[in-house]
Amino acid sequence: MSKRYQFPENFLWGGATAANQLEGGYKEGGKGLNTPDVLPGGKVRLNVLKDPGFDFELNNELYTYPNHEAIDFYHRYKEDIALFAEMGFKSFRMSISWSRIFPKGDEATPNEEGLAFYDRVFDELLKYGIEPVVTISHYEMPLHLVKEYGGWRDRQVVTFFERYVTTLFNRYKNKVKYWMTFNEINSSFHMPILGLGFAIQKEEDHYQPTFQAYHHQFVASARAVQLCHEIIPNSQIGCMIVYLPTYSVDSNPENVLYAFQEEQLLNYFCGDVQVRGQYPSFIKRYWKEHGIELEIQPGDLELLKEHTVDYVSFSYYMSRTEKKDKNPEEVGEGNILGGIKNPFLKTSEWGWEIDPIGLRISLNQLYDRYQKPLFVVENGLGAYDKIEEDGSINDHYRIDYLREHIKAMGEAIEDGVDLMGYTSWGCIDLVSASTGEMSKRYGYIYVDKHDDGSGTLNRMKKKSFDWYQKVIETNGENL
Ligand code: BG6
Repeated sequence: MSKRYQFPENFLWGGATAANQLEGGYKEGGKGLNTPDVLPGGKVRLNVLKDPGFDFELNNELYTYPNHEAIDFYHRYKEDIALFAEMGFKSFRMSISWSRIFPKGDEATPNEEGLAFYDRVFDELLKYGIEPVVTISHYEMPLHLVKEYGGWRDRQVVTFFERYVTTLFNRYKNKVKYWMTFNEINSSFHMPILGLGFAIQKEEDHYQPTFQAYHHQFVASARAVQLCHEIIPNSQIGCMIVYLPTYSVDSNPENVLYAFQEEQLLNYFCGDVQVRGQYPSFIKRYWKEHGIELEIQPGDLELLKEHTVDYVSFSYYMSRTEKKDKNPEEVGEGNILGGIKNPFLKTSEWGWEIDPIGLRISLNQLYDRYQKPLFVVENGLGAYDKIEEDGSINDHYRIDYLREHIKAMGEAIEDGVDLMGYTSWGCIDLVSASTGEMSKRYGYIYVDKHDDGSGTLNRMKKKSFDWYQKVIETNGENL
């Protein structure tokens, strides 16, 4: 008989999404354009995300823009939430689109139609007893802030963000208890367009603007924590990082040190500021060596210190293997955040390395370091799904992937980790963030929408739908 795991009572089982990847309605209800609205669909998006000098303009002759309609959750949220409820979701992670609330980002008053939309969504979730878990900024910001202010480079954006979060907390204080500030905040070292709202210019050294923009986000995040606690006393607000446990390719101390330093920068730099309330000591040497001087205003460091997060949420898809002097051919095809191929791991159809043990390691590392409740708010397998002649979708590969990762969480809980919940990524098929594809599917629910934009948008249950329903019903005992 297979081992049965004990998950905590009130464990927040559910699914995760982001506004720009599922809502569509990109010009409806008074919404302004935001960064993902100008990101092209298809593998070209990956190049754009790393492109110095990307101009944030729409170019309909060259590209398609899948986020414009996405899966039309904007109109179909009732149907979708009913399906989540049927699976037994205890929580649903979603994000709010900043440009629905403040279409340009720098207005003095919010857009009532945008606010009313999220009221309707929260009411629908609460009707079924599903707890909304809300990301305030998931890889997007109003395009006007990008063009006029250079995104998070400009300190004024902190003030606009404060206005945005104050509006959200006041409006939804009786509906939303769980919040998180910036999605995968640490990924901006690799993809600043998504998280920081600017492209590094061709001739520019990326270190200075990236760290300055990060400082602004940390201040904004600490203010959000402060405001959240003041306005919604029983709330919890977390940070959100993409976590890739980093292995050295071998036991050569040069490589071990390199892997360790890469891990400090990617995995811990942001979390240390948001959870421990101060810049970690290792970053000071790094700044010195790269000639970085931050503009820090009086009061900033005290703010960071006083308003740390309540929990640590993170996404986990893969681990990373590092080597000091690697050559480009050694880099894994799907390792978009760096790392060389790991010969011990299989990959997804997009080259992402599959490593459930890495999740157990991540949970232990994060808990050892921060001693705060953890929340796995993303994890899942992007795969091509096939509809059989009888209409069924037998996504056994997804079930296998999820089962092994849930087991890893069960093991980590036995190791002593305090884990609040699990929201698997893309519980309903949606637009991929890195490639803009629909064919990279993660869902328990299939959406009839294709890379060329065709499709009826009809929803269908996959085999994993029933499987996950059982997992939740038995609180993770029946895997
Ligand atoms: C995370 C993001 O990096 O990974 C999500 O927070 C994203 O927005 C998810 O969709 C999966 O990545 P992708 O590129 O397969 O959509």
